[in-house]
Amino acid sequence: MKRVFIDTDGEFDDVMALILALKSRDLSVEGITTLSGIRNLRDSTDDVLNTVELLGRSDIPIAEGVEVSMSQDLTQTRRDMLKIWRGGGRSSTKAIRRPGLTPVKEDGVGLMIRTVMENPGEVTLITLGALTNVASALLREPRMAKRVKEVYSMGGAVLVPGNTTPVAEFNIWGDPLAARIFFNSGMPITMVGLETYYQPVLSGDDWARVRVANPATRYCFENFGPWFKYLVGLHPDWEGGLQVGDALTVGAAIDPSLMTPRRCFVDVETKGELTVGQTVAYGLSSRHPSPKEPNTDLTVDCDWRRFNSLFVERVTS
Ligand code: RIB
Ligand code: CA
Repeated sequence: MKRVFIDTDGEFDDVMALILALKSRDLSVEGITTLSGIRNLRDSTDDVLNTVELLGRSDIPIAEGVEVSMSQDLTQTRRDMLKIWRGGGRSSTKAIRRPGLTPVKEDGVGLMIRTVMENPGEVTLITLGALTNVASALLREPRMAKRVKEVYSMGGAVLVPGNTTPVAEFNIWGDPLAARIFFNSGMPITMVGLETYYQPVLSGDDWARVRVANPATRYCFENFGPWFKYLVGLHPDWEGGLQVGDALTVGAAIDPSLMTPRRCFVDVETKGELTVGQTVAYGLSSRHPSPKEPNTDLTVDCDWRRFNSLFVERVTS
C-alpha cells in the first residue's frame, strides 16, 4: 500500500485524478491540499471537498493552501476562464454544490509538512497544480526534501511545446519561482510533463461510462460542464474523446512501469521576457551535460493503453 499526499488545483482533470486515487486500493490517501489555478482557491477547494464527500471519504484531511502565486499574476487567466463558464450559461466558476465537508483548521502548507515529517521515507507526494504550496513548505521546513519518499509532479514541458506559452506549461508558468525552488530542493522528482500528459485520450464512449460511474464522477461532469464542452470542442475529430490529464500522474505513482523516464537536471526560467516558466533540462544530450547531480526522472513516454484501461476499470469499479 503506497501512502500518498495530493496537492491539487481542483480542475476537471484533478478531480478525475482524485477519484482514481480514492478508488485505488493500493493507495492510501493521507491528506490533500488545495491551491488556486485557473479558478480561485475557494472554487478549487469546494470541488475537492465535494469529490471526497461524494466518495464517502470524510476521514481524509483536506486543507486549504496558498491563494496567491509567488511569482505570477493569474488575473487574466481567470477572466478568460470565466468567459468560458459564462458561455456555458453559468454566472461564475463556483462549485454547483455546497460541500458538506469543511477543510481542517490547519493550513495546507502545515499539513503537508507535518504529514511528511511525521512519516519519514513513507509519503509519496503527488502534485497536480502550480508548486506554490510545495515551495512554501520547503521554505518553512527544508528537511522535508529528504523525508519525502518520492514526488510525482505534473508540470513542465522540456521536449514538446508549452500549453500556456510556446515554451511553458501551465503549472510551472503559474509560479515559476516556486517551481525553481522545488526542482532545486533535492526532492526525488518524477516529472510528468506535457511529453506524456497529453498521451492518454479516452473515447467519447469511455467518458460516457465514467460520467455515470458514481456520484463523484456525475458531480464532476455537471460541475465542469462548460469547461468539458470547451475542451472536447478543441478536438472535433475525436468525437467526444478527451485527454485524461492529471490522472496520469496518479497512474505513474500507482504503477511506475507505465512510464519511460530519462534522468536529467531540470531547472526553471524565472526571468525571461519570452520564456518565463520554461523547464530546461540538462544531461539529455552530450552537448549539454548536467551541471549538477541530476534531480529529475523526466517521463518521455508512457504506456497510455495500459493506463487508459487502469483508469476506466478503477474509476468505474
Ligand atoms: O497544464 C496542465 C495542468 O494545468 C494540469 O494540472 C491542469 O489541471 C492544470 O492545472
Ligand atoms: Ca491540475
